[in-house]
Amino acid sequence: MCGIIGYTGDRQAQGIILAGLKRLEYRGYDSAGIAIVDENLEMFKDKGEIGHLEESMPGIKGNFGIGHTRWATHGKPMKNNSHPMTDCKNEIALVHNGIIENYMTLKEELMKRGHVFRSETDTEVAVHLLEEFYDGDLESAVLKTVTKLKGSYAISVIHKKEKGKVVCARMISPLVLGIGKGENFIASDVPAILEYTDRMIYLLDGEIATITKNNVKIQDLEGNEVKREWEIVDMSLEGAEKGGYEHFMLKEIFEQPKVIQDTIIGTSLSSENGYSIGFKPDTIKIIACGTSYHAGYVGKHMFEEIAKTPTTVELASEYRFSSATTSQPLIIGITQSGETTDTLSAIRTAKKRGHDTLSIVNIVGSTMTREADETFYTRAGLEVGVAATKTYITQLIAIASLAIKMGVTKGRLGIDRARLLENQMRSLPKHVRSILSNAAEIKELAESISDVNSMFFLGRNINYPVALEGALKMKEISYIHAEGYPGGELKHGPLALVTSETPVIAIAVRDQTYEKMLGNIGEVSARDAKVIGIGTEGDRELEKYVDHTIFVPEVPHLFTPVLTSVVLQLLAYYAANARGCEIDKPRHLASALQWNDYIN
Ligand code: M6R
Repeated sequence: MCGIIGYTGDRQAQGIILAGLKRLEYRGYDSAGIAIVDENLEMFKDKGEIGHLEESMPGIKGNFGIGHTRWATHGKPMKNNSHPMTDCKNEIALVHNGIIENYMTLKEELMKRGHVFRSETDTEVAVHLLEEFYDGDLESAVLKTVTKLKGSYAISVIHKKEKGKVVCARMISPLVLGIGKGENFIASDVPAILEYTDRMIYLLDGEIATITKNNVKIQDLEGNEVKREWEIVDMSLEGAEKGGYEHFMLKEIFEQPKVIQDTIIGTSLSSENGYSIGFKPDTIKIIACGTSYHAGYVGKHMFEEIAKTPTTVELASEYRFSSATTSQPLIIGITQSGETTDTLSAIRTAKKRGHDTLSIVNIVGSTMTREADETFYTRAGLEVGVAATKTYITQLIAIASLAIKMGVTKGRLGIDRARLLENQMRSLPKHVRSILSNAAEIKELAESISDVNSMFFLGRNINYPVALEGALKMKEISYIHAEGYPGGELKHGPLALVTSETPVIAIAVRDQTYEKMLGNIGEVSARDAKVIGIGTEGDRELEKYVDHTIFVPEVPHLFTPVLTSVVLQLLAYYAANARGCEIDKPRHLASALQWNDYIN
C-alpha cells in the first residue's frame, strides 16, 4: 500500500504535496518522492520517511506536480526504487500504488526495445510504456499504457511539456479527485486533500482522469467521456485518516478482501513465477510468535495436505531450548514485522544448526528478510492497529500459495489440482466481503457477551489454531480472559470452568470435525454455557445445537480459516468496543514495528 497525491492550481505545489504525503504516511513510509514541473521536470526522492524528505529537499518552484509515499513490494526501500519514476528522457514522471502482475514480461519486451531500467520495481515498466506511447497527448498515452497492465494500479502522471496537467488512472487501488476552486487534486485517500476541499469524486476501476486547474475530465478505458458528479465528504481530518472507521483495527479488518487479492497477485501463483520454488524439503518446521504462530499452525495443515510434507510448529521463543535433531527440516519463520526478536533469534539458531531457512514477512527490507535464505512476502500494507488482522489473513494466503508451489515442485500435487486450489483462493475476497456485510449481526452478538469475565473458543484440526487466534484477539483487545481449546480436550480439565457465565464460541463448519464438534457443543451446553456456533452457510442442523449461529460461505476446508477468522476478529473488535477499550493500542502491548527493541 502506497500513498499518491497530485496537485494543479495557482499555489506552489511543493508544500501542498508534502503536507498531503504526511497525511498518507499511514499507507507506507519507507521512501518518498516528489516531481514538480516549472520550466523543467524537477524531482526529489529518497529512502526514509516524509519528514526526512522534507528536511533534505531543496525548494522546488512550480504549481503542478505529484508525490508518493512508498511501502515497498518489489525492490527494497532505496532511492532508485522510490517513486516518482521517470522515462529515459526525464520528461515524464509517474507514481504508482498497487502491483503490476505482468511486469516481468513487459520489462523483457521493453528492454529488447532499448529501454534502460534503473530500479527493481514493477512500477518502472509503466513509465517506459508511457514514453513509447507518448505522441504529444498525455491522456491517450496513459490510456494505451493502462490497457497493457495486469494487476492493480493507481497511477498519477505529469509531462514536462503539458503544463498544468495531471493524469491519473485506477484499477483496484483507490484514487479520489478533490475538486477545488481554481485548483484540483488527486489522492489515494481523502485525508491528503481534505484540508483544501471537501468536494470529492471517487474514481472507479477502469477510469482515467485528467485534472487541470479549472477542469476535471474522466474517461473509461475505451476513451469515452464519463460524467461524474462530485459529492461532499462529511468527515473530520482525524476520522478521514481512519477512512471513516472508528479504529484502525476495524479499517484493517475491512481492508482484508483487497489485501487477500493483492497477496494472491503478489505471490503470483501461475503467471510470472510459475510453480517452481528453490526448496524441496522432506519436512518443515515453522517458528513464529503470537498471531503469526497461529497462522503457521493453520499452515501446518496446508503443507501436510497440499504439499504432502510433514510439518511441525514451534513457538519461536521456545525453539532455542529444543535439542538439535538429526533430521534437517526447512525452517520457515513467520513474522509480519520482520523485526520480532524471538523469531529473529530462532532463525539465527536454525542457521547455526545448518538448516535452510525461509521467511514469510510483510515488511520489505526488514531484518528477517536479510537473515533468512529466502523470503516470501505478504501484501497487507501497513498495519497500524497492534492487534494483527490483515497481516494474519495474508499470511494464510501466502502459506497456501507456498504450499501449492511446494507441492508442484516436489511432484506431490498435480497442475490441475493446483489450478483448482488457485481458483478457489481467488474466490476468497468475495466471501470475506460477504462476511463483512454481516458485521451488524456479529456486533449485536459481541455486545451480548461483552460483560463476561471469561470465554472459550473451540475448534478441531485446522480450526483449532483459529480458535487459539480468536481467543488471543479477544483477550488482547477486550481484556476478557479467553482460552482456545481443541474440542476433545475440554473433558480433560477445562470443562470444570464452564458455566452459564462462560460463553463458548465453537467453530463447527461442515468438515471432518463437524460431528465431533457437535458432541463438544453438547458437553458445554449441558453445563449451561451459551454457545455461539460458527457454521457453514445453510447448515440448519447446527442451529438446533447452539444458541446463536454465524454462518460463513462454504469453501474447501483448507480455506475456511480465512473466513472463520474474520468472524472472530469482528467478534473481538465489537466486544472490546462495547467495553470501551483502547482498541488500537491495547495495554502493555505494541507491535515489533512500533517498538523495534521489543524484548520477550
Ligand atoms: O511481527 P510478528 O508477526 O512477528 O509479531 C508476532 C506477534 O507479536 C504478533 O502476532 C502479536 O501476537 C499480535 N499483535 C497479536 O494481535
